[in-house]
Amino acid sequence: MKTRWMMAGWFVVMVCFSGIALGADEACITCHKKVSPKQVADWASGKHSREEVTCSTCHGEAHKKAEDANLAQLPDEHVCAECHEDQFEQFSKGKHNFGWTSMNALPITHLEPDELMEGGRGCGGCHNMGIKSEAQKKEQRDKGYRYQNNSCDECHTRHAFSVKEARDPAACRQCHMGYDHPQWEMWSSSKHGTRYAVKEKGKLADSAAAPTCQFCHMVDGNHENHTAWGFLGVRLPLPEDKQWAADRVTILKALGVLNPETGAPTPRLDVVKAADLARLTEEAWRHEREKMLKRCSQCHAETYARKQLAMGDAIMQKADRLMADAIETVAALYKDGLIKKPAHYTFAYPDFLMFMQTGGSYIDQVLFQMYMKHRMRAYQGIYHVNPDYAYWYGWAMMVKDLAQIKELAHTLRATSKTAETR
Ligand code: HEC
Ligand code: HEC
Ligand code: HEC
Ligand code: HEC
Ligand code: HEC
Ligand code: HEC
Ligand code: HEC
Ligand code: HEC
Repeated sequence: MKTRWMMAGWFVVMVCFSGIALGADEACITCHKKVSPKQVADWASGKHSREEVTCSTCHGEAHKKAEDANLAQLPDEHVCAECHEDQFEQFSKGKHNFGWTSMNALPITHLEPDELMEGGRGCGGCHNMGIKSEAQKKEQRDKGYRYQNNSCDECHTRHAFSVKEARDPAACRQCHMGYDHPQWEMWSSSKHGTRYAVKEKGKLADSAAAPTCQFCHMVDGNHENHTAWGFLGVRLPLPEDKQWAADRVTILKALGVLNPETGAPTPRLDVVKAADLARLTEEAWRHEREKMLKRCSQCHAETYARKQLAMGDAIMQKADRLMADAIETVAALYKDGLIKKPAHYTFAYPDFLMFMQTGGSYIDQVLFQMYMKHRMRAYQGIYHVNPDYAYWYGWAMMVKDLAQIKELAHTLRATSKTAETR
């Protein structure tokens, strides 16, 4: 804890001994008790209020009346860091710190409505994780969006800033759910989540084993987070198995990281490296894997846990085979001119980083869904010990997507032949 906190501490001492009223802070509180009473009550419920970390500590003193509310500072993570340096430093090194940057690195981001990006009610609502640069903040303000300056309040919501709230798995739910990363759904309906739910109801002893997201992913409260495979499930170097390595190359082409014609790296590879989207060495991957296995073996035999995670890796390999087959089927349609290259694409090849904006081709959307929704579920489901996600929502849907893609390709080719003969 640095100077600000020491000063805050002195302030408490002074107030306790002299009983004097709190100057600027009292004005904030008195007025805001009328303007936004529940907000003040929320702050009063948290530890900050007892430590004299008041409205003006975080928002400054420049705003004094309703008309000049725009003078209030909206505190970023550096303000929290003045008193919570350790958490700030840890957070800075973890994956969460890349949320905003990786979102903005995607070409799709700049084609979608601002409300869903800088406004924070879509991608930007979940990717408001990470310390923004001055340039990033300026871009946001220039587009007319003033809020979303802080990541710390994503788990310890304002103005209670509670540690108990952040320790509850529900603190992760808003973002780690849904289409492409349903960790909440997988965990909460697995035996791990079931244990937690039953324990919360008081039906299991306090000592009962029930792992939370935080137990596995924020070891000892450390705010630096990483996993071995990460989201995209790709890493370097390529696997030793020849077929798997070839399938990975195909996936990397569809991610636009490798040039589909030459196989050479594109500028997107630098983006992947800069935003820490993939582990770049075997060692970096293994480090995270071993760290996780230590967590599992708090409650399971290590050999048992190792086997479980190895099954996740094996399913990823099998899923990649289906995926590559599907990509090649669609790529052949581009090659034969049956799908035209959309104007905003770099190559006449499927581009996963264009998400659903695939230039009007339905088969491309089915392919994207196979990758983003179903491939993710197939292996995330195994890692989170959820049979239904691994099979029905994951693997089985990939098999279905592949059949549909083959059928659509066949129809496209047949229709074009008929058109030619006419
Ligand atoms: C006389 C009443 C009054 C006082 C005193 C006052 N505020 Fe406000 N404040 C308001 C009102 C009203 C708004 C809402 C304006 C709106 O809705 O656009 C506001 C808005 C804010 C905002 C949001 C700013 C934004 O951009 O949306 C913050 C933060 C804030 N006040 C903090 C403080 C702090 C800190 C103090 C003391 C230094 C303080 N207020 C003193 C009335 C007051
Ligand atoms: C520990 C720091 C901290 C303290 C203390 C604090 N705030 Fe805030 N406040 C924040 C953060 C962080 C935000 C969100 C800023 C952002 O993301 O742009 C915020 C946002 C706000 C907003 C605008 C958003 C909204 O939900 O309306 C208002 C108004 C506000 N604070 C009022 C207050 C008042 C009144 C107090 C005192 C009772 C207070 N704050 C105390 C950190 C603090
Ligand atoms: C001026 C110093 C100061 C600033 C600035 C500050 N805090 Fe704190 N914070 C404290 C103190 C003091 C405590 C109480 C520590 C304790 O009791 O161990 C605390 C406690 C906390 C806790 C633990 C609460 C609990 O339930 O145990 C969280 C979480 C927290 N702060 C988050 C934040 C965030 C997020 C920000 C920035 C928006 C912030 N703080 C800004 C001083 C500060
Ligand atoms: C519901 C919240 C949410 C929404 C909406 C969302 N994301 Fe994400 N995004 C996440 C989470 C959580 C992760 C990490 C998932 C994981 O690792 O399994 C992630 C991962 C990513 C990654 C990969 C980061 C990495 O290191 O591998 C990129 C890039 C990305 N999102 C971009 C976007 C874009 C662009 C949009 C909008 C078109 C979007 N996201 C919408 C929550 C969201
Ligand atoms: C991904 C969710 C998440 C984010 C984002 C987050 N925290 Fe936390 N924080 C937690 C959890 C979980 C704990 C409880 C850890 C534990 O079990 O001790 C915690 C604990 C804390 C504590 C209390 C430490 C103690 O020992 O009492 C402080 C202070 C804190 N965080 C500050 C911050 C600050 C500052 C930021 C932003 C730089 C931040 N947190 C961002 C989840 C988060
Ligand atoms: C029992 C431990 C455990 C629990 C509990 C757990 N996870 Fe995981 N999580 C894992 C493992 C294992 C992986 C895969 C690590 C790897 O790549 O080797 C993983 C991976 C992840 C990833 C990266 C992408 C993926 O899904 O493979 C995210 C994001 C994630 N977990 C978030 C969460 C969230 C949020 C929760 C709570 C809703 C949660 N996890 C609960 C063990 C756990
Ligand atoms: C406000 C949204 C949000 C909340 C809340 C949130 N996360 Fe995340 N999380 C993200 C995003 C976005 C990413 C991907 C960041 C990036 O682009 O690299 C991510 C990434 C992760 C990863 C890294 C996966 C990888 O690629 O290795 C883990 C683990 C994780 N989160 C766990 C948690 C846990 C545990 C909690 C709750 C304590 C939590 N998150 C709360 C948005 C969130
Ligand atoms: C905090 C304790 C704890 C941790 C940590 C933990 N587990 Fe579990 N796990 C349990 C409990 C309790 C059960 C339920 C036992 C049963 O099914 O009889 C369970 C069940 C399982 C099951 C069987 C589910 C089923 O359908 O029968 C698997 C597989 C599993 N865990 C894998 C893992 C892996 C892999 C890790 C590490 C990533 C891990 N666990 C971490 C406590 C834990």
